[in-house]
Amino acid sequence: MMSPRKKLTISISKSVTISIPGTTANLGPGFDSFGLALDLANLVTITQKEPTTSLPPMVEATAECFFNGSGLIPFPFDWKIKGSVPQARGLGSSVTVRLGVLMGLNKLCGLPLSRDGIFRLCAELEGHPDNAAPALFGGFTLARSLAEPLRYTVSSALRFILLIPNFEVATPDARKVMPKSISVSESAANAADAAVIAVAFATKRYHLLCGAFGDRLHQPYRTKLVPFLPDVIKAAELNGAIGGWLSGSGSTICALAPDAASAPHIARMMKIKAPKGSKIVICTADNQGATVLKG
Ligand code: HSE
Repeated sequence: MMSPRKKLTISISKSVTISIPGTTANLGPGFDSFGLALDLANLVTITQKEPTTSLPPMVEATAECFFNGSGLIPFPFDWKIKGSVPQARGLGSSVTVRLGVLMGLNKLCGLPLSRDGIFRLCAELEGHPDNAAPALFGGFTLARSLAEPLRYTVSSALRFILLIPNFEVATPDARKVMPKSISVSESAANAADAAVIAVAFATKRYHLLCGAFGDRLHQPYRTKLVPFLPDVIKAAELNGAIGGWLSGSGSTICALAPDAASAPHIARMMKIKAPKGSKIVICTADNQGATVLKG
């Protein structure tokens, strides 16, 4: 039987701002598991007051999940979002919304939920944990279902080059183009490469990542949606990148440069292979994860 809902006591402030990093997920063969937080962020402000306009469905659904999870009586709130994580480009923008709402309400209510509790709610809402884990905890993360993710800090020397096309890819569409099954040999090769990526990040031996980002499960099929993907990755690798992958379900392509000095040249070569209107952002990893800025 469900326990009765508790009455809300606003403990600290009536308004709170949360900073949530953008993320790149999958990193090739780590489908729905690997993720890495980047130093671009969205800021979500939650204020306890009647909203000025109706809240977006994603915000409503996340708030409902928070109030159900915490057992608190819902109260009206307004929200604002700003920042540099583009929407529907495979950089975890939906997680910035969901974590912003979950963490903002949690802070306003005096932290009834633990960080792990917030992670589980966010991963459940997303349907997969690969963006929720790095956005919340920072660094490179390995997530399996709703279990506590493994987390490793990432060297600040590395650069992540994002080639952001001027079109969106919706994750449900990008999942529809995938096959129902793949062969044993393809699955074995993916498992071997994923293991190498995990060890390379866990031990900070990044040179091991060379040749490990190849994927046979989703990228070859998603090339339908991002046709220049193989050429952009090849251009990056031929010009000094350790490797490259489709960021989450796209449309962004991410390449890993060994240092700051090599990144601008790699970025220029990637851009030549991409359609007009594509944007380049060069960033480092974020090792902090989502943080409460104000409140
Ligand atoms: N791992 C998901 C996918 C997207 O590739 O469909 C990111 O959550």
